[in-house]
Amino acid sequence: MDFGSLREEMPTVSRMIYLNSGWSGPSPKRVIDAVTQRLVYENEEGPTSRPVLDSRTAIKNGARTAFAELMGASAEEIVLTDNTTDGINIVVNGLPWEPGDEIITTSLEHGSGLVPSYYVARRKDAKLKIVELTAEDDSASILSKFASAITPKTRLVLLSHIMFRNGLMLPLKEIQRLAHASGARVLVDGAQSMGHIPLDMVEMECDYYAVPGHKWLLGPDGVGALYIRKELIEGVEPAKVGGAAASSYDTIGNLVPNTQTVRKYELTTQSAPLQAGAVAAIGLFQELGMQNIWERIQLLSGGLTRGLSDIPRVTLTSPAKGGLASGLVSFAMQGRDPRELTEALWSKYRIVARSVNEPAGVRFSVHCFNTEDEMELTVRAVGELAMVE
Ligand SMILES: Cc1ncc(COP(=O)(O)O)c(C=O)c1O
Repeated sequence: MDFGSLREEMPTVSRMIYLNSGWSGPSPKRVIDAVTQRLVYENEEGPTSRPVLDSRTAIKNGARTAFAELMGASAEEIVLTDNTTDGINIVVNGLPWEPGDEIITTSLEHGSGLVPSYYVARRKDAKLKIVELTAEDDSASILSKFASAITPKTRLVLLSHIMFRNGLMLPLKEIQRLAHASGARVLVDGAQSMGHIPLDMVEMECDYYAVPGHKWLLGPDGVGALYIRKELIEGVEPAKVGGAAASSYDTIGNLVPNTQTVRKYELTTQSAPLQAGAVAAIGLFQELGMQNIWERIQLLSGGLTRGLSDIPRVTLTSPAKGGLASGLVSFAMQGRDPRELTEALWSKYRIVARSVNEPAGVRFSVHCFNTEDEMELTVRAVGELAMVE
């Protein structure tokens, strides 16, 4: 499997220049086939016939194992979730907050990181601290900002590995070490990193890491995963519970809670067709190799960044170069509204991008299925838009 063959499996790429996998990635044909075949099979064979039930369990376990392998974790540390936000909520709402505990987050988070942090501050009387980050930060300045914010009262640091607003990639391992040295835990929003850069939970010394399947991973909507390090599972109470949150229970009020396994977070029915799609997507990423994918993303996004920075009136809002840049490339154009530019890119050039705010800009998600030609066409399109008043 190479990147050319991947493109051949993707109906989207012949119709448009798709640069928005950071929102939702287009699925290759084998992912769509896995979903539809399973859907048809379940319906034809009867949703609760013995072979369907057995293969349903096998798919669920397979999905856990597939996410675990791509994240450098073990399957018993993986909760199957609906999406990143679901995973973030499991941790934030499951920790034993005490009044005066601190939660630290950053100014570049998505609503899925900011709003749960604000809610915890209100509901649990926790103190909220926001670390201000910009695309001009380097590793040293980022670490020094976190070092000033973290105290022995910090219970949780909630941050994105890669920032959706401007593509800044944090020195995660070093930040986690700082937090751990003060007794704090770190919850990583991996919405923009899964399927984008190689991940290894053990090597990065992660506590909790929430990911989606539908963005950079190119899987279907509705399947994600949450990693919780084995020894931390007991300390995260399930906020929503069903039968699997009990080791045993009866009908007269007795309950022995399930404290030890990730099954306690999973409610009842999940979609085997969607999980089958996620497994197919992960299989594809394993065939391509995450290191190869990341190297190609860096090559393409580096070219796009250089091309954009030569255009008059255009300012990059993502890191210009160096170790903290990612496949998210964003720019602002003097005197122009990013939403209007995003619309023009689509209507005039069939380029799919998105606008972001704070910092305001147009954001491109450069993935391994994109091409050098697409980068050139995109630079040319932005150049033409910059010539219009
Ligand atoms: C950084 C970040 N966090 C969370 C989300 C929400 O992701 P999900 O739909 O998987 O909950 C997004 C979506 O774009 C995001 O960019």
